[in-house]
Amino acid sequence: MENQFKLATNLNLVDQITVKWQAPSNIALVKYWGKHGMQLPANPSISFTLDACRTITTVKATKGDHGFTISYDGVPKPDFAPKIEAYFKRILDYCPWIAQYHFDIDTHNTFPHSSGIASSASSMAVLSACVTDMESQFTGTDMDFHKASFLARLGSGSACRSLQGQAVVWGKHDEVTGSSDLFGVDKSDYLHPTFQQYHDTILLVDKGEKVVSSTVGHELMNGHAFAKARFSQAHENLSQLKQALKDGDVETFIKITESEALTLHAMMMTSHPYFILMKPKTLSIIEEIWAFRKETGVPVCFTLDAGANVHMLYPHENKEAVDELINSKLAQYCQNGHYICDQIGTGAKKC
Ligand code: PMV
Repeated sequence: MENQFKLATNLNLVDQITVKWQAPSNIALVKYWGKHGMQLPANPSISFTLDACRTITTVKATKGDHGFTISYDGVPKPDFAPKIEAYFKRILDYCPWIAQYHFDIDTHNTFPHSSGIASSASSMAVLSACVTDMESQFTGTDMDFHKASFLARLGSGSACRSLQGQAVVWGKHDEVTGSSDLFGVDKSDYLHPTFQQYHDTILLVDKGEKVVSSTVGHELMNGHAFAKARFSQAHENLSQLKQALKDGDVETFIKITESEALTLHAMMMTSHPYFILMKPKTLSIIEEIWAFRKETGVPVCFTLDAGANVHMLYPHENKEAVDELINSKLAQYCQNGHYICDQIGTGAKKC
């Protein structure tokens, strides 16, 4: 299976090549939590691709001894190096030509580093887009987005959902054609018009570093008392969500999305060691959203990552009402009143 991404064709290597791409973050609706082997998911997940939260990366490859430099806006960032070194090692089998190049990588995030928003999805996706683009130029073939997603997965699991499409499924699911544990597949065609312009406003409750790294987090599912039930629930939730997305069924969408967020946190609260990643303000926001939804009927809901920040998801037509809710009630729960307005996007793009 993995072999489909090994190079069979001859390469036309050049002395120097520079490419520049941008890739967005994504927000999972059915969550990936638990992995095995080489970054293989314990259950399938589906996400909305974001737009405003992006990483923009330029890679210059020069023929010579393998090595790399990494900078952020031109300033060297040696603390980013271990992750990139591990990434290059993992992709070497699939892109052996990288051994013949030195890479100068410069990167920039459109969202602040200290926002508590993980940049691993967008940064690994964009780096993989750059590598795959170079390879397609060496082979004289079209850019292979599945390979880019496959490589991104080796860098950071959820990054494989940031390459192509407004909605992406990663992980084998019986009812999702073409789905694979190895890469994300574009399922934009699932989206009823209601979901094609969805908004995600990220309320920044805690801008600090993650309390639980993803590596530690996924490990918590090994031997977790509820693991088996959780993994099969994710399959069931994905089946139901797929239908809801197709039907424009916002009610079912809300039910599954919020339940998935709380289940992710429930898994963390019931693992060993156990963690509470929500903050009191996270709960206050959730209660405000529920009260507002009940009172007004506006179909706004929340989801959470492995942290305290709240993603508010809602249709475009309700933007004004939700803005009013944020200004009057929710901004006060955010650190320094900060939140990020994002919406559904289409994936990685060449700059
Ligand atoms: O891609 P990772 O290893 O950082 O894991 C991401 C896990 C969650 O964000 C909590 C869920 C998901 O599916 O994105």
